[in-house]
Amino acid sequence: MKTKKYLIVTLGLIGIYFVGLTTINNKEEIEVSAKVENTNNTIIPKPLSYEGKEGKFTVNKDTNILVNGNNKEETEEISKIAEYLKEKLSPSTGYNLTINKKESLARNYIYLTTLDGKSELGNEGYEIDITKDGVKITAYKPEGLFRGIQTMIQLLPSDIEKSNLVNNIEWSLPISKIYDKPEYSYRGVMIDVARHFFTEEEIKKQIDYAAQYKINKVHLHLSDDQGWRIEIKAYPDLTLIGGSTEVGGGPGGYYTQEQFKSIVEYAAKRYIEIIPEIDMPGHTNAALASYGFLNPDGKRKPLYTGTSVGFSTLMTDSEKTYEFIETVVKEISEISPSKYFHMGGDEADSTKKEDYNYFVGRVSKIVEKYGKTPIGWDPIDTSPEINSSVILQNWKDSNEAARKKNMKMIISIANKAYLDMKYNENTPYGLDWAGYIPIETAYNWDPTDYAPKNLVLGIESPLWTENISDIKQMEYMIYPRLLGYAEIGWTPKSERNWNEYKIRLEKQGIRMEYEGINYYKDNTIWKNN
Ligand code: ACM
Repeated sequence: MKTKKYLIVTLGLIGIYFVGLTTINNKEEIEVSAKVENTNNTIIPKPLSYEGKEGKFTVNKDTNILVNGNNKEETEEISKIAEYLKEKLSPSTGYNLTINKKESLARNYIYLTTLDGKSELGNEGYEIDITKDGVKITAYKPEGLFRGIQTMIQLLPSDIEKSNLVNNIEWSLPISKIYDKPEYSYRGVMIDVARHFFTEEEIKKQIDYAAQYKINKVHLHLSDDQGWRIEIKAYPDLTLIGGSTEVGGGPGGYYTQEQFKSIVEYAAKRYIEIIPEIDMPGHTNAALASYGFLNPDGKRKPLYTGTSVGFSTLMTDSEKTYEFIETVVKEISEISPSKYFHMGGDEADSTKKEDYNYFVGRVSKIVEKYGKTPIGWDPIDTSPEINSSVILQNWKDSNEAARKKNMKMIISIANKAYLDMKYNENTPYGLDWAGYIPIETAYNWDPTDYAPKNLVLGIESPLWTENISDIKQMEYMIYPRLLGYAEIGWTPKSERNWNEYKIRLEKQGIRMEYEGINYYKDNTIWKNN
């Protein structure tokens, strides 16, 4: 009797032991899968060199973020980058990490420093050294630390991107060494807020998303035939009238100067420069509709909510035009710390060529008078009044004049880099005049296909918004193509390969998903969706 009872108890205990063991095994499986995700280098843009080893460092609630710069100002700047990192890690981990100036390196740290940062890393390069004790990111400039943090975040499990608390996960990073710096200093995205208006908050969200792929310029197309989107205090009707609608007749909108400054500041914290564009002499109907003095008959033009181009022009022979432009350039330059001012110059089909040539030359001098480097779309380079102090944003495959003049260029060739082009015939919005741009086409090119390397400042992918009217549509067109453009700008051509890239891209899908980005889930990349 007694023996039987013992036997039952013993068998029961063995059973409990096995159930327990299975549970432990499951837990181990979860950890192993997290490890596998992290030991592969799935970073976009791809770093110059990545060396992964066995083992890991795990961030926990006691991890210290340590900072140290070459002087007090730099240390303060690095502390702000540390704040950004802390805030980024907080929602999913639930950790409220401490930030301290580095006194000694104990264990369990994320150390951000410019001490002994190599000058060859330039402003944006960085090195990461992950050991079992912690993460050390070293850069020549604080900006490099910010770029390095983006890489570090991509080494953490993808759940880090969730906005809610994630339990039962190990926030581990693989032991590794990374050396990285960009191929091009200009890596931009443009948003046309003139055809359809997007609010300050919507633009800030896009800045956040772009920053994680090391985009460093956001160009805002602030005026066009359908809308004027930036407050000019001397000319209030530009926004009261010119900003009052958009394509399709919606309510439009504009940024007050305070809102614009807030966007600039938000972007600067993410080491992104906001480049303002006032497009002229064409694409100016919203201005012509706001002020009669800009028109030959002295009368305001009607507002325009269609999508034609090439019908409007400023009067190139009127001093009132140049007075107006100078005031606009002055007011914007006062609130825009960017060294660049984009003066448009595209599709001025209603301006005689000799008038265009004179106009763009004169406006480029006004821009320079206010301390800014002018950027213009082609054919601005063809004006004899334009010299190598102006930067060409090359959207059509012709830049002979710019080459002859040794003008620096931003490459935005429409059939490769335009984010408003449809992916394929089934894409529900966007245009197709430059052709379809599937993800592979968007990735498989190099700026040097279009201009000599020494003239290439970098690349920019523009999103025109003739038929992009809300943020979901915007994200669908931008993502995932922007990841490819970011990599073209960052990673040397010799290190890039579509077949390898698309595996990393697939891994990024879950991160975009967790972030709530409405990306286009191409079924050749994301096969199981
Ligand atoms: C442009 O696409 N009109 C620059």
